[in-house]
Amino acid sequence: MTPLPTRSVAAAAETRHSCRAFTGRPVEASLVRELLATAQRAPSWCNVQPWQVHVTAGAQTDALRAFLAERIPGATASYDIPAPGPYTGVHAARRRESGLALYASLGIGRDDKAARFEQAWRNFTFFDAPHVAVLTVDRDLGPYALVDAGAWLSHFTLAATDAGVATIAQAAIASYSPLVREFFGLSAQRHVVCAISFGYADEADPVNAFRTTRAELSDVVDARGFDSWA
Ligand SMILES: Cc1cc2nc3c(=O)[nH]c(=O)nc-3n(C[C@H](O)[C@H](O)[C@H](O)COP(=O)(O)O)c2cc1C
Repeated sequence: MTPLPTRSVAAAAETRHSCRAFTGRPVEASLVRELLATAQRAPSWCNVQPWQVHVTAGAQTDALRAFLAERIPGATASYDIPAPGPYTGVHAARRRESGLALYASLGIGRDDKAARFEQAWRNFTFFDAPHVAVLTVDRDLGPYALVDAGAWLSHFTLAATDAGVATIAQAAIASYSPLVREFFGLSAQRHVVCAISFGYADEADPVNAFRTTRAELSDVVDARGFDSWA
């Protein structure tokens, strides 16, 4: 029997936000498997499922943290997938607004470069998350594989929110893609898309208190042919 529709996906989408401070409490392996199984239902071009996910817990998360802390200072940043930009117009404005909200939540001033660097560096400690999922795609499949990976990311983060698990997507990790490949023993065929740190949110940390805004539907939707569109 088809289950009755619920609005749990809409509720998860309303509630989800990027978490930048985690408690150390691990997520039960059975729940991690459940979240991965939900994400595995994501659609993909011709059902190719181009993603591979490397997920860590406990000592493996700590080992990845330690590896990056040791190796990044001597490494040159190198993305597999070109980073976006230049940002202009409305894209630049939205980017600026979310950045200002992040720094304001921490009381970091516009010119406090040291504090901004320190916050950016927290990407490489995964904001103390107990788990990291590194998302890669096959490099031969082109840009649509990245669309597929984005669908996987959405499925995973919404399923996690629905289960009370906090997440953050992190392209910062992809800026050192060769190091990530080295840690996990991956071939150059695998392109690093991003990491998703996850665990339980430290609700007391002010960095988790701010929420980003979204553009109005009228700014992004061109709706045609509906009887009423109010
Ligand atoms: C593909 C992707 C990569 C991201 N990379 C980072 C990152 O490296 N560091 C970070 O702090 N946030 C990162 N974010 C989080 C975004 O900044 C965040 O999703 C956006 O500001 C909207 O806020 P929200 O997730 O709280 O709704 C990333 C998000 C996505 C989807």
